[in-house]
Amino acid sequence: MPLLDGHPLGTDLSLLPSTSWAAALGVEPPFPIALLDLAPLAGPLSPSQLATMLSQAEQARYQAFRYPKRRQEWLGGRLAAKAAVAALLTADDAGREPAAPELVIANDPAGKPHLELPGLAQPVYLSISHSHGRAAALASLHPCGIDLQAGIPTVLRVKERFATPAEEAVLTEALGRQHAELLRLTMLWAAKEAIRKMVPVTPLPAFQDVVLTETRPVGSTHLLLFSTDKICHNAIHPLRVVAAIMNDFALAATALFVS
Ligand SMILES: CC(C)(COP(=O)(O)OP(=O)(O)OC[C@H]1O[C@@H](n2cnc3c(N)ncnc32)[C@H](O)[C@@H]1OP(=O)(O)O)[C@@H](O)C(=O)NCCC(=O)NCCS
Repeated sequence: MPLLDGHPLGTDLSLLPSTSWAAALGVEPPFPIALLDLAPLAGPLSPSQLATMLSQAEQARYQAFRYPKRRQEWLGGRLAAKAAVAALLTADDAGREPAAPELVIANDPAGKPHLELPGLAQPVYLSISHSHGRAAALASLHPCGIDLQAGIPTVLRVKERFATPAEEAVLTEALGRQHAELLRLTMLWAAKEAIRKMVPVTPLPAFQDVVLTETRPVGSTHLLLFSTDKICHNAIHPLRVVAAIMNDFALAATALFVS
């Protein structure tokens, strides 16, 4: 990973081989997904460490966080996003390898992250997630969304908020032999969150407005198909999400494709 090669954090960062994810979604690669372990970011980092990774505005933002856990998650999300964007730009425009502080990741007023980098030939979209000690980010030339969710008991306790009996039946039929209920529902949660982060709708759509209709196996991952007529009557249907179970986490990614 060129961006953090030789950096102390470089070893905690990995790029998922996600070409098959792009293919299942029907979008052109590159489709870099970066995963990061947040543990090394627990303590406050020194100004000189921060300067190797963040722009001045980002360093000021980091210092302004009140709660260490939020600061750690924010930084992890930033670093994962910078790694994903760097991989996208490197693959898309050979020879261009911006330094991490140049890749400024800002949030719009609704919280949606975007890249601030002058001179881009075409828009770069990105999405960030963090959960229980890990961060994930996706960069794409298409509007996209990613969600990482730990399979924790809360997911089961609140399942009525995001899963209908019909959706549970779809999941059980397709994944019942492979994954326990908790992980099936965690995957559904992550998939819906990924869609909510992608769609250009404010406020974000309700979980009930994104309806699972089908799932298909794709290698070691799953393609989940969603109807979204309640959000947009002109939407390209169905919306596709690729999801995988990794240890006790569900990772889901989506992107808008043109058929
Ligand atoms: C945005 C939301 C989906 C995040 O999900 P989550 O499971 O709580 O958290 P995750 O760790 O997976 O994702 C957090 C990241 O999502 C991104 N995010 C936040 N708001 C977003 C939005 N509106 N659209 C897309 N991505 C968003 C951010 O990058 C954030 O990380 P950061 O703050 O460190 O940059 C959830 O908080 C939510 O539903 N918020 C409501 C937002 C809304 O409707 N706002 C309307 C304001 S008018």
